[in-house]
Amino acid sequence: RTAGQVLVASNRGPVSYSLGEDGTLTARRGGGGLVSGLSALGEDSGTWVCAALSDADREAARLAGGGTLDPDDTGGRAVRMLDIPERTFDAAYNGIANSVLWFVHHMLYQSPVEPVFDREFEGRWAEFQRYNAAFAEALAEEAAAGATVLVQDYHLSLVPRLLRTLRPDLRVGHFSHTPWAPVDAFRLLPDPIARQVLLGILGADRAAFLTWRWAEAFAECCRVLLGAEVTDHGHELRIGHDGSTTRIGVHGLGADGAFLRERASRPDVDERLAALREQVGDRRTIVRVDRTELSKNIVRGLLAYERLLEDHPEWLDRVVHVAFAYPSRQDLAVYRAYTEEVGRLAAAINERFGTADWQPVVLHVKDDFARSLAAYRMADVALVNPIRDGMNLVAKEIPVLAERGCALVLSREAGAFAELGDDALEVNPYDIAGTAEALHAALLMPAGERAERSRRLAASATALPPQSWFLAQLAALRA
Ligand code: G6P
Repeated sequence: RTAGQVLVASNRGPVSYSLGEDGTLTARRGGGGLVSGLSALGEDSGTWVCAALSDADREAARLAGGGTLDPDDTGGRAVRMLDIPERTFDAAYNGIANSVLWFVHHMLYQSPVEPVFDREFEGRWAEFQRYNAAFAEALAEEAAAGATVLVQDYHLSLVPRLLRTLRPDLRVGHFSHTPWAPVDAFRLLPDPIARQVLLGILGADRAAFLTWRWAEAFAECCRVLLGAEVTDHGHELRIGHDGSTTRIGVHGLGADGAFLRERASRPDVDERLAALREQVGDRRTIVRVDRTELSKNIVRGLLAYERLLEDHPEWLDRVVHVAFAYPSRQDLAVYRAYTEEVGRLAAAINERFGTADWQPVVLHVKDDFARSLAAYRMADVALVNPIRDGMNLVAKEIPVLAERGCALVLSREAGAFAELGDDALEVNPYDIAGTAEALHAALLMPAGERAERSRRLAASATALPPQSWFLAQLAALRA
């Protein structure tokens, strides 16, 4: 334990467990952009504090007896999984983080009558505070004097302030992996709650975001809702409030080119590529890979593909949409309904346009990393059309692996657009006809231009691999 020690806190940790029928626990790597980004965290770092997400995780946490997990399961890292009471966890993760904060930042509320801030919400909010307090207490226990703590994402927005109170000696950073809502959308939260979230993050010495768009939105929320003073220092903003200053910075997260190329050249990926090629034949391939997530806009993507087949029948039997949509957050009814809708729509398109030897949509829902990489390798067109997205790593990963080079159809609302926009085909994610036309243009793009753009996309996509993202965040916090 030294002052050079770095701790990380995030809801989802680097490992999750499943329970076999015989009661044995199996560990596997956690998913999502946050865990990918933090993969650079070395074995020699301090503890990574995360929450137990399932019964199997809780079992593993109990076996660890409040200490760190078996290092064999975590690639040698010190990981402490908090066995938070299920009611508290469920209210905090499903009830607040993923139903309210996620929806606000991604502007997913469809009508002004949602959400309902009633007594039940207040109960969930109290659990959210307890859940954040559990993290702050664990970090306060684990951290050496003067250590650095990197708190990750919207689940833990209250942790920096709580931790500062418990341990004023620590250097605390917060990083948001999501977009930040513009002030008019953010103030949909009741004022005291909105203020607690902002003040929670301002408890950090430095708060960072994936793009300037999100950083500026956060600063604007602080200015309008807290009366904070925002000053521009070029590479950083500073937010002064109540006698203290929080620095605000930006660190884009890129794809890990070396890792992807190596992993995608292994035999298990070759096998899956052969199987997909068998199915697709010599037709063009439009690829998408996402968590089945409302913000990823998979339904409008399928509607745009259907519209392409309607408006440009020359593509009938000449294209296949390979869509991988891996179920996510299935404890929430709205995610379950969305997952079903995706399945229904894919089946309807196949029913309407399919023939004896052409299946227009190949939908897979079982998470298989090797198969995702195989799809990346065969992509002619990548479809990434989120309603809003903090960054979106898939947009960065596909051009790195697409063997023939791919045309990228990219939503202007993805954080990645700021870096990749020049060589992508821009779409408004709500505009189905516009997305269909972008797919058509992508399919028609001459091979030479496509390869050239794809090469430039891959170069900017890999400019900031997770290792550099992590170290830059750390160096800036300690500066
Ligand atoms: C996004 C969030 C992460 C989260 C990931 C997967 O990338 O920013 O914090 O871990 O989604 O979502 P899940 O709810 O499964 O952790």
